[in-house]
Amino acid sequence: MTTIPESLVSPVWSRITTILAERGEGAYLYGADGTRYLDFTCGIGVTNTGHAHPKVVRAIQEQAAKLLHGQVNIVYHRPLLELIDELRTIVPPSLDAFFFSNSGAEAVEGAVKLARHATKRPNVIVFQGSFHGRTGMTMALTTSKTIYRAGYQPLPSGAFVAPYPYAYRYGWTAEETVAFCLREVELLLQTQTAPWETAAMLIEPVLGEGGYVVPPPGFLSGLRKLCDAHGILLIADEIQSGMGRTGEWFAIEHFGVRPDIMTVAKGIASGLPLSGVIARRELMDAWIPGSHGGTYGGNAVACAAGAATIRAMREEGMLENARRMGALLMERLRAMQAEFPIIGDVRGLGLMIGTEFTTADGKPAKDAAKAVVKACLENGLMLLTCGAWDNTVRWIPPLIVTEAQVEEALAIFHTALTACNL
Ligand SMILES: Cc1ncc(COP(=O)(O)O)c(C=O)c1O
Repeated sequence: MTTIPESLVSPVWSRITTILAERGEGAYLYGADGTRYLDFTCGIGVTNTGHAHPKVVRAIQEQAAKLLHGQVNIVYHRPLLELIDELRTIVPPSLDAFFFSNSGAEAVEGAVKLARHATKRPNVIVFQGSFHGRTGMTMALTTSKTIYRAGYQPLPSGAFVAPYPYAYRYGWTAEETVAFCLREVELLLQTQTAPWETAAMLIEPVLGEGGYVVPPPGFLSGLRKLCDAHGILLIADEIQSGMGRTGEWFAIEHFGVRPDIMTVAKGIASGLPLSGVIARRELMDAWIPGSHGGTYGGNAVACAAGAATIRAMREEGMLENARRMGALLMERLRAMQAEFPIIGDVRGLGLMIGTEFTTADGKPAKDAAKAVVKACLENGLMLLTCGAWDNTVRWIPPLIVTEAQVEEALAIFHTALTACNL
């Protein structure tokens, strides 16, 4: 096949470009026509080590030649043990039991099933704007856009939505926003889901698909206190914000809060399908054997890629680079904000940064954000948007990005803002 057979591909895959990707190397993606793109999408936050990191590729090749599939209900395999060993060095020490599956949605669904067995309670509190996946249950936990649920409702019950502390949207100070949002969680516990039937609060420590929103200080610790007071579990969905993306291994570390359960996926295996539920042993002990699982979860090649990913990130100081490059990006984007008033807000942690486009009368400037992203692509920079109105441009380069590449991306973005008359 030499042309793209659009009629043979399901339209349910919403399409951002029609590029035929030939290969990837570090921060670059190459089209079949030879065009080089600076990839600041990382395949939606997956290729944190860059495309085809040599150490990860070598681990995949070596493992593929030895054992592709060692089904985890039937046998143990070495890459699984190695991955657990590596993860133990980076996750909060209190999380000491590991379960693996393939996708982020599967991990979230697994985490909620675990919380239900461990607490014998049915309900989950989620936060406005969150994205947790597109399977049956995770659709019910997702409130970032109606497209993820319209036409599929009614969805499984038991999910209750509290506001996410999105201070810029509310137009309040950080303190006012935190106080309001914590009060609303308490109201939910008083009016809709009683504490004794609430198994967990499930939260993205930095809101991803919902708009790259960083919760102000005091919010996550406030949730922790509420959870402790009522025997509710705190689940951190680190699928997008984890694996070094924010300059720490996991975003929740920025807030000094300890989750009971954590979900990981995306960056964990540099592009191979792998996700995990990581929890306290005593919780995992309550998860009835056989009540959850899957044929491919903990695949040998994916686990080898995961272990190699963690080693490469540590050996090459990628978290430190994420902090340095993130600070540079943030500083330069804030300077551009002063020049282009369409950029209403610049926010983020490490290399998880959002620039929210807002019109002069305070409305989401979706068309402007789309136009800038399109102009950037035409000039060789790949960016994605996010947020309910897709008016936030996300900056998620690989954690190996260099200063020169950050400067190149900023120059393309600046040219696009100018060309779009913003
Ligand atoms: C925070 C978060 N949770 C869950 C998911 C779902 O992951 P997947 O698309 O692998 O099912 C995503 C995907 O974007 C995500 O960002």
